[in-house]
Amino acid sequence: MKKKVDKLITDAKTEIEGVESSKELEAIRVKYMGKKGKITALLKSLGELPDEERPAAGEAVNKGRKQLEETLKTSRETVRSSESAQKLRSQSVDITLPAVDHVMGHRHPINRVMEEVLDIFRGMGFSVRKGPEIEKDYYNFEALNIPKDHPARDMQDTFYFGEDTVLRTHTSPVQIRTMETEQPPLRIVSPGKVYRVDYDVTHSPMFHQVEGFIVDDRITFSDLKGVLIEFVNQFFGEGTPVRFRPSFFPFTEPSAEVDIGCVMCSGSGCRVCSDSGWLEILGSGMIHPEVFRFVNYDPEKYSGFAFGVGIERLAMLRYGIDDIRLFFENDLRFLAQFS
Ligand code: DAH
Repeated sequence: MKKKVDKLITDAKTEIEGVESSKELEAIRVKYMGKKGKITALLKSLGELPDEERPAAGEAVNKGRKQLEETLKTSRETVRSSESAQKLRSQSVDITLPAVDHVMGHRHPINRVMEEVLDIFRGMGFSVRKGPEIEKDYYNFEALNIPKDHPARDMQDTFYFGEDTVLRTHTSPVQIRTMETEQPPLRIVSPGKVYRVDYDVTHSPMFHQVEGFIVDDRITFSDLKGVLIEFVNQFFGEGTPVRFRPSFFPFTEPSAEVDIGCVMCSGSGCRVCSDSGWLEILGSGMIHPEVFRFVNYDPEKYSGFAFGVGIERLAMLRYGIDDIRLFFENDLRFLAQFS
């Protein structure tokens, strides 16, 4: 029996030596130690031996079995570690390869300038109100003291949806909508898209405005000047030359347009400022008493000022852009410069 066992163990060991995978190793284990394995068969055959031979034979088989188990165990560890090393090698990452470039997005220059303008006015205590882009003729014109057939309607070429509905031509109607539902004191800015039948290097059929206004008792033209000069200083830089030039708007009296010293030539005269040294940046004025009557405010009790500023115009001056259409063409070569 001892010899039989020794032979089996030697055979098994030889087989184990040539093994390369844990699968093969498992097959060998089954061949010798499985239910129908060779060692298992020897163990079973012990019962058929005469009593006096059984103890020695049993000992030999058990010893052999233990020995084989040991060998299998060691070999299993070796095979496993070489398998896992191979797996790691096959899955390895070449860290010298160039990385995939993730380009960060950024905000559109118009949104950036819009946010900056709103931030400046928020800093002066203004709150934001918004209004609809499809607007009633009443709010866009009528209540702003621009009656039907008034020549001032020609100032703004309008997209009509019929008699009484328009694409708003400015953000001024938000003045009316706000005053209809709220009482003074009011300090409001209203950003948004506006539309006009217009298309060239400085005009786009859709563009952005911010309307602003203050209503309270004892608001004067000095307040208008103070707020707008502060805005110019914050947006274009401290000490930027500002002038107020008499103008006309149906919804303000008196009215003024605000000019700044030309940002391109610093006032010496160039193509952008038509050699005047000045650039118009916004319209403003003291809110007309007629406008207050439309919203049932007593013009004897309240006064206020209003202004309207075009965002594309500010952005063009800020970044030195000479064609407004660049903002709306979505050309990445243009947009990527604002990251
Ligand atoms: N609504 C005018 C426009 O779009 C801009 C404007 C001028 C607004 C004077 C005002 C203002 O509030 O007082 O041309």
